[in-house]
Amino acid sequence: MEKIFKKVQKYTLPQDVKKMGLYPYFIPADGIIGPITSIYGKPKLMFGSNNYMGLTNHPEMIKAGCDALKNYGTGCTGSRFLNGTLELHLELEEKLAKFMEKEGAITFSTGYQTNLGVLSGLTHKGDFIISDELNHASIVDGCRLSYAETKVYKHNDMEDLERVLQSLPKNKGKLIVSDGVFSMEGSLALVPQLAELSEQYSARLMIDDAHGVGYLGDHGEGVVGHFNLTNEVDLIVGTFSKSFASIGGFCVTNDDVINYIQHHARSFIFSASLLPPAVATIIKAIELIENGDDMRKKVMSNARLFESGLRKLGFETGASQTPVVPVYIRDEIKVLKVWKALLAEGLYANPVRAPGVAVGDELLRNSLMATHTDEQIRDALEIYETVGLKFDLI
Ligand SMILES: Cc1ncc(COP(=O)(O)O)c(C=O)c1O
Repeated sequence: MEKIFKKVQKYTLPQDVKKMGLYPYFIPADGIIGPITSIYGKPKLMFGSNNYMGLTNHPEMIKAGCDALKNYGTGCTGSRFLNGTLELHLELEEKLAKFMEKEGAITFSTGYQTNLGVLSGLTHKGDFIISDELNHASIVDGCRLSYAETKVYKHNDMEDLERVLQSLPKNKGKLIVSDGVFSMEGSLALVPQLAELSEQYSARLMIDDAHGVGYLGDHGEGVVGHFNLTNEVDLIVGTFSKSFASIGGFCVTNDDVINYIQHHARSFIFSASLLPPAVATIIKAIELIENGDDMRKKVMSNARLFESGLRKLGFETGASQTPVVPVYIRDEIKVLKVWKALLAEGLYANPVRAPGVAVGDELLRNSLMATHTDEQIRDALEIYETVGLKFDLI
């Protein structure tokens, strides 16, 4: 048999898991993904989205998207570099730079493409990228695409990071990169220590704050602002697919770095630009988030309410500082069984197994929205209690 497709025919793991009735992926929602989301025609409590600020069904967001569709059409049919730049893209980048309190901004069509483009465009042969071992796959892939050499340090372990930095030649380019919020555990990167070490070892620092922008910081600018270190962190990247309830990615930094990335990031140059309705909804989301103190407080208090309820029931929840609330199951089959039972009882959460987490750390990833009500949180806890008892988790 010919080699390329031989492995394809042998790869039956998903089908096998489907036969067991435990396949958890590609479950389609049939309406807006809000606190209650319809799945297979039945309303479910949605505790598995990244819609932290709850903006996906905000009427002003929907109106902004519809208006842009009417005014600018369905797509831009080209790269930002050539025919794909609208005035709307420039307006977004200007607003975003101000919102993030950096000189300039560049937007990409996804957060994934942002990490590919920024990392591979900015670092070259002879440089070093120093990356946390739990960084998101898009950072890992950006490192792979770069001609720089990647060194990995143990998760959030500053001693190990320093050990790596000490081992590198003094005169070489160095870029430290870390997630801002580690999205499975909901923990924060140690940004103050990262900034100190980058200063001490003449390295540049890049924080991917995909999961922190929106609810952290005094106006939603994220983990870097939360630590008051906007000037010390050289590059902040993020996504519009979570708190901004749209799609796309961004990098904010100094104008001269933006200029360089614009002309060297291949995932920016050789890919079509963000759709007009996406750009318009992001602009609206920035406005709502900037004035969203209540939403910020609510998503955090919702998360702590849910987390303390789970703990009281006896679940293992880890040490989240964000709207992400993990429930550790620590068994790769049981996590699927618990996920399925929760869904049958009316709650959607995300089952996470290796490589999303280390083997033995299997968990259900719950994430709260600013728009969850106390009643919905109580209902979710009741469902967890029923299922937890059934599976001897509590
Ligand atoms: C830390 C981090 N970076 C980047 C991304 C990719 O973002 P996008 O969904 O916009 O491609 C994600 C998405 O999960 C993420 O968690």
